[in-house]
Amino acid sequence: TGTIKLAVIPGDGIGQEVTGEALKVLEVASPAGVKFEQTRYDLGAERYLATGEVLPDSVLSEIREHDAILLGAVGGKPNDPNLPPGMLERGLLLRLRFELDHYVNLRPSRIFPGATSPLADPGEVDFVVVREGTEGPYTGNGGALRVGTPAEVATEVSVNTAFGVERVIRDAFARAARRPRKKLTLVHKTNVLTNAGSLWWRLFQEVATEHPDVTTDYMHIDAAMIFMTTDPARFDVIVTDNLFGDIITDLAAAITGGIGLAASGNVNPDRTAPSMFEPVHGSAPDIAGQQKADPTAAILSASLLLDHLGYADAAATIETAVIEDLAARQPGAARRTSEVGDAIAARVTG
Ligand code: NAD
Ligand code: IPM
Ligand code: MN
Repeated sequence: TGTIKLAVIPGDGIGQEVTGEALKVLEVASPAGVKFEQTRYDLGAERYLATGEVLPDSVLSEIREHDAILLGAVGGKPNDPNLPPGMLERGLLLRLRFELDHYVNLRPSRIFPGATSPLADPGEVDFVVVREGTEGPYTGNGGALRVGTPAEVATEVSVNTAFGVERVIRDAFARAARRPRKKLTLVHKTNVLTNAGSLWWRLFQEVATEHPDVTTDYMHIDAAMIFMTTDPARFDVIVTDNLFGDIITDLAAAITGGIGLAASGNVNPDRTAPSMFEPVHGSAPDIAGQQKADPTAAILSASLLLDHLGYADAAATIETAVIEDLAARQPGAARRTSEVGDAIAARVTG
């Protein structure tokens, strides 16, 4: 019993549409005696274009006071001359991940019964990517010199700290130890990115000594992408840096039934700030506002949110409803975004 204070940031494009469906399902799945107290934040392209504000400090402070955050997607219309590239991605999404210390970007991938993989014979695919969420090439380190001249130089420096790498590796080992197969694969590019690679490799080996029960493996990012298409069932838990993890998880989504099913949690395992749950996909300007988006990824993200807050049964109820809905989907029969949300909510209600 109690109240869950939920900050809701629908954001841009299909983020608006899919978040509505996730909230619909969350309402009916809420555990007995638990009430959601929602605060809606109109952050995103529209607000920026109207006011120049991306994420005011006062709003960030307010968001901090919530138990969890549900986010749709951010990203305005492509090539909008009034919207500098990365303004929202960096200023809103990454700022939230960094400020709230979401160092574990958790992205589970599973071929649910009823989902269709484009792979002919994928096997039993059920892995989770633990993507580092606060460092790597995402920090904004670097710069551009002599812009617009033939001598222009642009750098994006990947930042990897022992503190940051160790804590995400520790989290990944702990997660692997709790899963039946107990296997952890480090994915990196230690043969070329030798500075960061050595740090990741050394800390991975060190923490491994504390987990003799966990089988470890290493793959270079390029080869890992071969195996993700030829034998994805081999993966259990993958730990990797911020940029590799971004790329891996779009492919992982594609092979497990599509980007419309891929959920994620930006987790602060130390619980010093609220964690944030969002679909892996973006604002999809190509289909925005047409009720064509699949809200399943957002709905499964709401399930991850409940699980994070300790409501494992309610979370499982949503997952079961999604699995049932997937099994009932007719190939070629497109449903509207709200119809999918209604159908899943109805299965939750039973
Ligand atoms: P995208 O994920 O928005 O879209 C890629 C393709 O997948 C599009 O064809 C889109 O229609 C389709 N798609 C995505 N989600 C879908 C869904 N739920 N159902 C059905 N089809 C779906 O990626 P993009 O086009 O590279 O990026 C668009 C914008 O979103 C950019 O501004 C980008 O920066 C931003 N973005 C934001 C997030 C986020 O908020 N977490 C994630 C990725 C991209
Ligand atoms: C994601 C997105 C973001 C990322 C962008 C929009 C900053 O692609 O959540 O996967 O790269 O992390
Ligand atoms: Mn991405």
